[in-house]
Amino acid sequence: MRNNPRVNKYLFTDIYISKEDQKKWYRKLLRDKKHFVFIAFDDVPVGYGQVKNIDYITHSCELGFCIAPEYQGKGYGTMLIKELIEYAVKELDVHRLYLEAFTDNEKAIKLYKKCGFKKEKILHERIFKDGSFKDVVVMSIIRGKTENRAD
Ligand SMILES: CC(C)(COP(=O)(O)OP(=O)(O)OC[C@H]1O[C@@H](n2cnc3c(N)ncnc32)[C@H](O)[C@@H]1OP(=O)(O)O)[C@@H](O)C(=O)NCCC(=O)NCCS
Repeated sequence: MRNNPRVNKYLFTDIYISKEDQKKWYRKLLRDKKHFVFIAFDDVPVGYGQVKNIDYITHSCELGFCIAPEYQGKGYGTMLIKELIEYAVKELDVHRLYLEAFTDNEKAIKLYKKCGFKKEKILHERIFKDGSFKDVVVMSIIRGKTENRAD
């Protein structure tokens, strides 16, 4: 899915992932207590969500999402994000959840706002992608505080 250009243009890395790379990554992931990947299923796999950079000291983690192009716009992203927020809060007792997106990824930003994330800051020219440096927005949910935060 990450190799699909319709998905990859929104991701921060643009390397081609081979089957062997994928297996290596998967084996590493099995031992990693700070990074979990969840596959979204509706009879078939439709996408995946990641809970990563889990910090058990500061009670924070980063989220990331991908829905396969043919399944986008059907509500799967919304369901997956809500599930992972609940998982992070209830199972990992996370206080601050954050994520990052290109500032021109309007669809993702709209979705994140809908799910309660607030804009925190812009990281200017943070990622080199497709020949230029791109701005990234950091968004977060802070438990118990989000309702009162400006966006
Ligand atoms: C971003 C992504 C995860 C959203 O998943 P999805 O299953 O398509 O999302 P949903 O169908 O649940 O739609 C969620 C919201 O996105 C927004 N949205 C959906 N399609 C949109 C469009 N064409 N234009 C603008 N906003 C749109 C809407 O706010 C929508 O909520 P609403 O229907 O209640 O208004 C998915 O598009 C994706 O994987 N994109 C490529 C990879 C990516 O950008 N990942 C995030 C990197 S930070």
